[in-house]
Amino acid sequence: MTSRIIGTGSYAPAQVVTNDDLAKIVETNDEWIRSRTGIGERHIAVDEGTSHMAVEAAKRAVENAGIDPKELDIILLATSSPDNCFPAGACEVQAALGAERAVAYDLSAACSGFLFALNTVNAFIQAGIYRTALVIGADCLSKLTDWSDRGTCVLFGDAAGAAVVQAADSGLKTMVMGSDGVKGPVLSCVARSEGNFLNGKTPQLGYMYMNGQEVFKFAVKKVPECVNQVLEAADMDIEDVKYFVLHQANYRIVEAAARRLKQPIEKFPMNMDRYGNTSGASVPLLLDELNREGRLERGDQIVLAGFGAGLTWGAALIEW
Ligand code: UT7
Repeated sequence: MTSRIIGTGSYAPAQVVTNDDLAKIVETNDEWIRSRTGIGERHIAVDEGTSHMAVEAAKRAVENAGIDPKELDIILLATSSPDNCFPAGACEVQAALGAERAVAYDLSAACSGFLFALNTVNAFIQAGIYRTALVIGADCLSKLTDWSDRGTCVLFGDAAGAAVVQAADSGLKTMVMGSDGVKGPVLSCVARSEGNFLNGKTPQLGYMYMNGQEVFKFAVKKVPECVNQVLEAADMDIEDVKYFVLHQANYRIVEAAARRLKQPIEKFPMNMDRYGNTSGASVPLLLDELNREGRLERGDQIVLAGFGAGLTWGAALIEW
């Protein structure tokens, strides 16, 4: 027994911010952003947050799967930018969908979050504990961005992606997940509040910090490594993989992974030109795009891989 993705959905806020728009608020330009990252524009939330985006993506995934939300046993929301410390955003999704039977909670693994959540529900399904799951990756990093820091503010976009996963005979074949907390400080966002009446500190709002080059080096090494691991575990020839759906942080990272894996770049779909790096949403957003464009056929072998803050990384080999 394994689990199969039976429906996908995604959502991005209506407001589009172009590179030229950003050149009006920080010293940057379209040419630099495109040539260094592949990003042309991104969607930015105005009067909405992570939970609203997660709900919209979830509704579309449930509709695409053709199930009743009451069939859901578990809802896992992967996010590192929840609207609230509690209740969990997943509980808001549960309420909005009327998925009253489902247990719901959040999982924090940044840009690897969707992979971690998918692998977690798969473990529940394989163990026979749950049958039908909703996995969501949603992030609203625009609210954690220092909009005067050109090193980070040009990179990210807001979005949500979701998948309905169900017990099946074929589907998720092999997975790998990893964490390296020692390297955590290279990509971080400090706690929003560190004050209480004893320490006398004033509650603070934290912003994201990233050492881009360190993360770049980590990604270029780790992504091909974990892709090879899931293929080896399944005894699968890399030539049989139709698509490598990688976290959309930078087209240069995707190209480097393609080179190291000795695979044609056409097997690596990309959409960061239109969405930027949407963190936990990036893999399910791209998967939903491929699904809705009719580019995925039953039986296709697809590798998903994500990496990000933690540092964390994860990959899964799935049969569509
Ligand atoms: O999902 C989370 C994972 N995050 C990532 O995967 C990000 C990984 N890292 C990257 O994608 C790249 O490191 C960046 C896109 C963040 C940066 O690209 P880079 O080629 O590593 O550039 P750099 O940091 O070495 O900066 C090169 C120059 C610097 O100027 P000097 O020192 O050479 O004069 C920067 O100050 O580019 C400058 N720069 C910019 N210039 C125009 C940095 N940001 C900008 C900007 N516009 N937005």
